[in-house]
This record gives sequence, structure tokens and C-alpha cells, in this order.
Amino acid sequence: MQQELPILSKSIVLVGLMGCGKSALGKRLAKRLEVPFVDIDRHIEQEEKCTVTEMFAKHGEAYFRNAEHAALKYYMQQKEPYIIATGGGVFVAERNRSLIQQYAISLWIKVAYDVLLDRVSQKNTRPLLEQGNKAEILKTLMDERYPIYEKADITVETSNRPHDQMVDKLIAAIIEYNGKKTNDE
Ligand code: S3P
Repeated sequence: MQQELPILSKSIVLVGLMGCGKSALGKRLAKRLEVPFVDIDRHIEQEEKCTVTEMFAKHGEAYFRNAEHAALKYYMQQKEPYIIATGGGVFVAERNRSLIQQYAISLWIKVAYDVLLDRVSQKNTRPLLEQGNKAEILKTLMDERYPIYEKADITVETSNRPHDQMVDKLIAAIIEYNGKKTNDE
């Protein structure tokens, strides 16, 4: 039986720690819902013509955070709904969170620490994790950021299951959220 699909009146902004699957799942979610997908990091890389790592090295983190905010603002102003994958730091900044609250629905993809560590350990493309011991930095980021990610409209716990099953779970959670919203109104 085909899964019921939600009607999106607003963009869905995927938030969560590095390696939680915002891009991989976001792409597939967008395809299923037949709406455009954007990854904020990739958008910035295209605009700036360099990688996130190069940007941190050349201009510093504050410059990157401003570029992130500008890109988010651009997508929050679009009329059509998008599925938006954000970098792990986007939702942490108050100015971004208030934009998202106003214009979109936030969805936290929550993944167990061991799974995250395993995924991020396979890459060296995340400057924040290259500043020391990955396991320790990831743990610190979890402690600092989880109380903030918890503020998202929707939380979905995922694991190392096939992508399709995880996208099913995201869709079910969006439908449930839409239902609750309608009842509240
Ligand atoms: C960051 C996460 C990265 C990227 C940058 C900073 C963060 O994106 O935006 O390295 O502050 O958590 P992913 O969450 O897609 O890895």
C-alpha cells in the first residue's frame, strides 16, 4: 500500500548534528514529496566558489555563519515549499531559529552518538571536528546543542536503517504534526 503523503504549506527545515542524515534523507524526502531540495552548505559553496573547509580556513567561522544566515534567509523568503538541509550550526543561532519559526517547520533528525561518530569519522570535511579529538568534540557539541535541537517542531529518531524506511518515518511524523496543528487551530 502506498504511504499517505503530507501537503506542505511551508518548507521543512532539517536540523541536527553533523552526520545525522539531513542531506541524504532530505534529498530522498524531497523526491517523494515532489518538492525542490536544497542543502544550505552546498548553496554557500556554490556562491562562494570554495568548500566549507576552505571558507573556515580563509575567512574564519564568523564569515561562514553570516553566509549561512544569508542563505537561510533567502530560502525562507521563497513562496514554494522546499526541503532544506541545514548545517549542524544553523538552528543553534537564535537569529536563524527565529526565521525558521516564522516561515517553516523544523524537524530534528536525532541519531545515537555511536552512529554519528562512526559516520563523521569517515570524513575530514567538517572543520569543527578537525580541531582535536573527533569523539570528544562531538560529545561536547551534543551536550551544547541537544537542548536547542529539542526546540524543533518535530523530532524523529533514526538509526542505521535503510534510507527508504527512515524517509517513511519522517513522512509519518510530518503528517502527525500537520494533524495536530489543524486540531489546535
Ligand atoms: C557545522 C556542520 C556542517 C557545516 C560546518 C559547520 C556545524 O554541516 O555546516 O562544518 O556547526 O555543526 P553538516 O551538519 O551538514 O555536517
